[in-house]
Amino acid sequence: MKLIYCCGALVLLILVPSCCKGGHILVLPIEGSHWINMDILIQALHSRGHSLTVMRPSNSWYIKDNSSYYSTFTVPVKRSFYQKFITKIIFDIIQFERGALPLTSFLYASLGMFSTTLEIHRAVSEYVSAMLDDAELIRTLNNTKFDLVLTDPCWGSGALLAKYLSIPLVFNVRWIISEEGQFGIAPSPLSYIPITGSGYTDKMTFFQRVKNNILYYIIRMNDMLITKQVYQPLCEQYLGSDCDFDHLKIDADIWLMRTDFVFDYPRPTMPNVVYMGGFHCKPAEPLPDYMEEFVRSSAEHGVIIMSLGTFVPELPDDLANEIAAAFAKLPQKVIWSYRGPKPSTLGNNTLLVDWMPQKDLLGHPKIKLFVAHGGTNGIQEAIYHGVPIVGLPLFFDQYDNLLRLQVKGGAKILTLSTVDKDDNFLKAVQEVLNEPSYKQNMQRLSRLHRDQPMKPIDTALFWMEYVMRHKGAGHLKAQSYRMPWYVYHSVDVVLFLTATVMFIRCLWKYVC
Ligand SMILES: *[C@@H]1O[C@H](CO)[C@@H](O)[C@H](O)[C@H]1NC(C)=O
Ligand SMILES: *[C@@H]1O[C@H](CO)[C@@H](O)[C@H](O)[C@H]1NC(C)=O
Ligand SMILES: *[C@@H]1O[C@H](CO)[C@@H](O)[C@H](O)[C@H]1NC(C)=O
Repeated sequence: MKLIYCCGALVLLILVPSCCKGGHILVLPIEGSHWINMDILIQALHSRGHSLTVMRPSNSWYIKDNSSYYSTFTVPVKRSFYQKFITKIIFDIIQFERGALPLTSFLYASLGMFSTTLEIHRAVSEYVSAMLDDAELIRTLNNTKFDLVLTDPCWGSGALLAKYLSIPLVFNVRWIISEEGQFGIAPSPLSYIPITGSGYTDKMTFFQRVKNNILYYIIRMNDMLITKQVYQPLCEQYLGSDCDFDHLKIDADIWLMRTDFVFDYPRPTMPNVVYMGGFHCKPAEPLPDYMEEFVRSSAEHGVIIMSLGTFVPELPDDLANEIAAAFAKLPQKVIWSYRGPKPSTLGNNTLLVDWMPQKDLLGHPKIKLFVAHGGTNGIQEAIYHGVPIVGLPLFFDQYDNLLRLQVKGGAKILTLSTVDKDDNFLKAVQEVLNEPSYKQNMQRLSRLHRDQPMKPIDTALFWMEYVMRHKGAGHLKAQSYRMPWYVYHSVDVVLFLTATVMFIRCLWKYVC
């Protein structure tokens, strides 16, 4: 047994060769929670001795220009695009969703919000132009001889810059423009892969499949309009008239996918897709003293934590009061990350904090339950630590993320439209606390997630260094992404064969 263990460690050492010389990596991140993900990869790469350069717009919201582990190029842009738009989107969606079903909120988010989304991509395209028009900047970037461009393809900027400078490209991806990343590259039968936003699982009835198809085409149409109006003109302007953005946007050497099959439904994938779901998860560290004391004071009842993520500092007052009142009725202690005004119904068992060390709390033995909005980061942390969830999804992919856990028995979802009725919130919290299967299921997912040959972050590092060592990974890229759709689906071949058969039949008839 020991021998096997040693061999395993040896294999790992061979698999993760310490890259002898540090590479130069150019990073084009996205703002908000996407930056939090990228920052983790940047820090990990830095600790392996690589030098990192981050491109940021002058009005960046999250990305600081005085970091100790990366240097920056700041590109002057006029439009203050990010914060204003996101804040508006979020408040519109929350208001809308309080009276709606998941499906209508999908339509609202993809159609009603289309002009706002388009505006964001327009701002991104101005940012790309500002970058590529700056001859001095481009000369400096070109002279630095970067080994790798690392980007989040949710915006089209990274692929354009990498192509312009002819540098190997790695994606840190969950979304590609408005599509779920795996739909962008791998075969994705709509019969068992639900569109994110549909609120369906991988088992769909006939009419759900009909809707799933319709939603898919709505997303494709959104994507096509954004590409046609924003990115294709850029592509032609800077990369030549034969440049096709639909091909360019998926032309990465490696896709580091921020998901895995403990969390997601099984589906087809491609050779250059690497799953690194949970790459940010780490064992818990000790809590700050005041928090440790509060957590200990819960005695045998344990602790509940609640956070609705980076984007949502506060909720409408009535909703916050409802939630606080429900918490006040529980014997557990509650830590609630909330930056809004203090709810009037707040009980003395509830600690309101501006920020909480989420992973350290989730890993604390006294934690019983996580009330979460269903962002991927929080969900992966809950899986890692095996903590059951009461989900309060707000927008985007959050309902669908939580649904993946609900069907695996580790979470219970409440929607914004029902959470403040009939004590629903209190009932859901009590159910998940008192029914042991929720915890058992999450702990099973946790064991599955941790049982991998390499930690997800090491897998990600390995593949980025692999791309640097081999100056790309072209041999892993399928031809599929260069093909027009009718070649990909063999429509031309089917037409040809049909015509041939018909021709022979006609000929046969004629001869007879
Ligand atoms: C960057 O600047 C901010 C504000 O001036 C400061 O709070 C922070 O400590 C600085 N960070 C580093 C790494 O120098
Ligand atoms: C980068 O530099 C090389 C020569 O070192 C040159 O051939 C190439 O055109 C330059 N690329 C850009 C985008 O300026
Ligand atoms: C908290 O409130 C309950 C009910 O109002 C009361 O019985 C209890 O003594 C209070 N605890 C503290 C520590 O103030």
